[in-house]
Amino acid sequence: MSSARFAPRSAALVLLVLLVAQLGGCGEEEPPPDLRQPVGWDDALRLPDAEDHDPAPGVVEVHLEARVAEVEVVPGLTTEVWTYNGMLPGPTLRAKKGDRVVVKFENHLPEATTIHWHGLRVPAAMDGTEHVQKPIEPGEGFEYSFTVPDAGTFWYHPHIRSSAQVGAGLYGAFVVEDAVEEAPLGDELLLVMSDIGIEEDGSLTPADSSGWFGDYFGREGSKVLVNGKILPTVSARAGVPQRWRVLNAARSRYIRFAVPGQPLVLIGGDGGLSESPLPVDEVKLAPGERAELYMLPVEGEPVVIPLLDANRFHLPTEEKPKELMRLDLVDEPPGRGAQPLPARLAEIASIDTRGAQGRSVEFMQQGDPEGAVLGINGQTDGSLMLSARTNTVEIWTLTNTTNYDHPFHLHGFFFQVLDIDGAEPPVRAWRDTVNLVPEETVRIAIPFDDRAGMWMFHCHILDHADLGMMAMLHLMP
Ligand code: C2O
Ligand code: CU
Ligand code: CU
Repeated sequence: MSSARFAPRSAALVLLVLLVAQLGGCGEEEPPPDLRQPVGWDDALRLPDAEDHDPAPGVVEVHLEARVAEVEVVPGLTTEVWTYNGMLPGPTLRAKKGDRVVVKFENHLPEATTIHWHGLRVPAAMDGTEHVQKPIEPGEGFEYSFTVPDAGTFWYHPHIRSSAQVGAGLYGAFVVEDAVEEAPLGDELLLVMSDIGIEEDGSLTPADSSGWFGDYFGREGSKVLVNGKILPTVSARAGVPQRWRVLNAARSRYIRFAVPGQPLVLIGGDGGLSESPLPVDEVKLAPGERAELYMLPVEGEPVVIPLLDANRFHLPTEEKPKELMRLDLVDEPPGRGAQPLPARLAEIASIDTRGAQGRSVEFMQQGDPEGAVLGINGQTDGSLMLSARTNTVEIWTLTNTTNYDHPFHLHGFFFQVLDIDGAEPPVRAWRDTVNLVPEETVRIAIPFDDRAGMWMFHCHILDHADLGMMAMLHLMP
């Protein structure tokens, strides 16, 4: 994987784990498999799925309502959070690959909004930006309707004043399952990571706190949340695999964590499973990015999963770790019979780049240090518009000439990272977001299909997008 930097974990430990898993599966008089999670293992973290109001197979109809709701995020305090259906995060939308999804949406916020389906390859008219739809005013509604062509961990969030609206709580996960092709990879644990600014009296930190400074550096909320909770606990049992779907829904914060004492294998990212598993020591997600992790616990102690400093400003020293969540390894006999991870998780064709059109995209800044503006290719008001042709392949050379990290995100299409400073990523995977480190050159290949229209690309530090680090791609037949 590219933008997320995954250090290879000690190969010996991983081999051991895979070996243990394998041994559980052979032998003559082996006892039956026992792969039960501990009782109530995910009670503190399970997120409700949105109800499907259409009984027909192949169709999922959900009702979403954006509204301000009183939520106890900090124990003992009430906060007026901006929510979908009164929940933080919003309900999980769940569908099967190929399903038709209908979302009947109503806006009861005090201001206009839209919904963007981050990572889903929907028609342009359903993409939720102001370039393709009218803002949905308070009291109004809109019906989104599209087919979900890919399995993976996606998400939804507003695309008007998105830094303020996402920062106030408007986001939810969108899981598309592939029941047919995927091997069982453990019990699913969906982890929506984010942060929120809450003051001592429980009120939300104003969306524009610290003015230009907040825009330029990107606002990080005072509370880090996992599924809307501060420092929640998941239980696990040695030998019983869990499949973590992790999403960074924070407005500007990067999420970097490790799981002390436990082996982690990266099995997927933005666009579903990767081609092959990649053992990792830690995971780093820029805002908007996702990771799928396979965790087959070994015996050990309960631990706090630390939130490590992602150092997106490239300061000389790292901050000391904060606390993200707890992993409680229960004192029960280890489970038995976990299948080894398949060596090949998904078929991901390499992109034929012969004859591909090349293009350079530079994330840059302009102006003096006290009031610098951010932009793309010299345009700092979000007005840059590129055009491309449907059913072509393009190679984009992405650079970052500022001093800090910025995650590049493209709407509507997956891409593959070809190389970073000339080096190929360790596994092939589909992405929609890639972190750009200052002075690094990232080359991506984008296969455009026939979905003509206006597509956005921008920095997914949402404060930066709102400051002008955004642009449009007009895809024409
Ligand atoms: Cu999460 Cu414009 O996107
Ligand atoms: Cu998007
Ligand atoms: Cu940025």
